[in-house]
Parts: sequence; C-alpha cells; structure tokens
Amino acid sequence: MQTNLEKIRAEAESELAAAKDAADIERWRNKFLGRKDGAVVQILRGLAQMPIDERKAVGEAANSLKVALEAALATKEDAAKREALAGQPESSKVDVTLPGVQPAIGRYHPITQTMREIVGAFSSMGFQAVEGPEVEIDYYNFEALNIPKGHPARDMFDTFWVDYKNDKGERAMLLRTHTSPMQIRVMEKQKPPVRVVVSGKVFRYEATDATHESIFHQVEGLAVDDNLSLADLKGTLYEFARRLFGADRKVRFRCDYFPFVEPGVDMAIDCFNCGGQGCRICKETGWLEIMGAGMVHPSVLERVGYDSKQYTGLAFGIGVERVAMLKYGIDDIRHFYANDMRFLRQF
Ligand code: PHE
Repeated sequence: MQTNLEKIRAEAESELAAAKDAADIERWRNKFLGRKDGAVVQILRGLAQMPIDERKAVGEAANSLKVALEAALATKEDAAKREALAGQPESSKVDVTLPGVQPAIGRYHPITQTMREIVGAFSSMGFQAVEGPEVEIDYYNFEALNIPKGHPARDMFDTFWVDYKNDKGERAMLLRTHTSPMQIRVMEKQKPPVRVVVSGKVFRYEATDATHESIFHQVEGLAVDDNLSLADLKGTLYEFARRLFGADRKVRFRCDYFPFVEPGVDMAIDCFNCGGQGCRICKETGWLEIMGAGMVHPSVLERVGYDSKQYTGLAFGIGVERVAMLKYGIDDIRHFYANDMRFLRQF
C-alpha cells in the first residue's frame, strides 16, 4: 500500500510539472484531488476494508499525500498566473501609484442661486413656489392685467411676438414680458387665501447694455386674502430685504405706476455698500431700487371672479439679475451670460 502511495505521488508530481495551461491543471486536479473519484479519495475510501492495524498508518500517509498535492497545486497555479501576467504588454499594466483624476464639481449658476435664495425667503414666510409657461397668450400677459390693446403701458414691455395669429387675425402669442401673468393663472384656479411666488425667465425685445438683457429672471409674489393692506406689503418686503441684504437694511417705498396695481410702488433698499452716503453702486443716490409692487387692482380681482369688496391682494415683481448684481457688486449684467468660467467660479 505504501508503495502504491509513493507511486501516486511520483506520478502526480511529474504530471503537474508537465501541465501547460489552466485546462491541464484542472484535469490534474480531478485526477488526483477530485472529490468523487480522485486518486487520494479512492485510497481513503478503501481504508474501511483494510485490516485495523494497517488502517492508521495508511490513513496518515494518504492524508499527508493529500496535503502535499494541494500545496503543489497552489504553487503551480500561482506560477501559472504570474506567467500569464508577464505575457501582457506593458501598457495594460496599472500603475497604482499614479494620482487619480479629480472630477470637476459643478455648481448652480449665480442667477439660479439668487433666485433660489429669494424664493426661499418667501417660502419660509408661507408663500407656495410655483412656475408657469414662458410662452404666453396676450390675455394673461396684458389684457387680464388691465393692459388692453393700444394701452400706452404696452410700451413698458417691448415684446417678442410668436409668429402665430388667432382667428381674428391678431398676434396673440408672445414670450412673457414679466411673471405677472401667473397672478391671473393662479387666481383662476384657486379661491382666496392665495400666497404664491413665481420664479422664472422673462423676455423683452430690447437692446442689451450693462443693465439690460433681453432674457432675464423675475420672482413674482401674490397674496390675496381679506384685510390685506399696504402695511402687509411693506412688512413682507421689508422682511425679504433683511433676509437677502442683512438685518440692518432700511427700505424706501415710492409711488410708481403699473396698470394692474393701485396704489403702485417701487421699493428700494439703502445702499449696503456706502450706507446711504452715495457711491458708484447706488449712482450717488444712497438707494437701490429692487422691485415694483402694489395692491392688486380691484378690476384684476373682479376679472378672475374674486369679490373685490371682500378681498384685497398684494403683489410684487423682483428682478433677479438686479438683486444678484447688487448683492455681489457686479457692474455689468452681461457677465452672467458670457459663460466665462473665471467669472462663474467665484460663486
Ligand atoms: N410685472 C412688473 C414688471 O415686470 C413688476 C410688478 C409686479 C409690479 C407686481 C407690480 C406688481 O415691471
């Protein structure tokens, strides 16, 4: 029996040395170490039929053969792997000591950041954030806001018209010139109390200069309830100014005219740069105008079916680019849309 084991060992060793590839090695493993009928397993199975006194010695010898063959196999497999790797071209090797590639991290555009900050200030005061269509119809952009055809206020809003005529042959579709049309859309859909802010792009057919772009952004606000007054408008906007420009801001309201509000105002904050002394940023006035606002005109309320004796509304429209320019001290609106990474990376 012992000599039989020696024979198996010798045979195994020479066959393993001769194995040339993974398939040879696998065949070798089955032949000698296979669980079902490998040579070693067969010997161990035969132990039961052996005389007791031989069993122990043969069992031990068979086990040590098994351990030796397993070790030889591991060594052979290791060598085979190394050989395979060595055969690969230099270029496919990975140099794990090379530094990694740093992925560029994106960020929000400064206008998006500012718009979110404005909307955030109002939503924390209970306003719901909504959005609306950029292509509007004349009715919402003008008519329903007390700006009928031929009204001189249409001159305030140089308009991009869409090449489309309604069944009366009129140009009736346009790129919205302000976010105010959403006032009408919101009021048509719901009954008071209303408290919404609308953010988005607006379009004006104007020449571009340091303070004008033909595409810019607004955040519109609208609240309708019983007993809302100009004091609520002022208080709300004062709180907004403090949130965006600091707790010690002063605000100024002056009369202004928009057909859809009565009274109408413009709101200014005292210049955070010079504290009201007069400087380059406030053009020596000490004040910075940041929005138009007012109490919703009763006929606007009536047009959407609200009872203007019971309800009053306040509304405002904030120029986002204007706020961002003031907040960051930027003197030309065109910087925002030049896509110069040196500018954008600062935010
Ligand atoms: N829609 C006006 C504009 O774009 C701003 C405004 C909004 C004024 C709401 C009053 C009330 O100029």
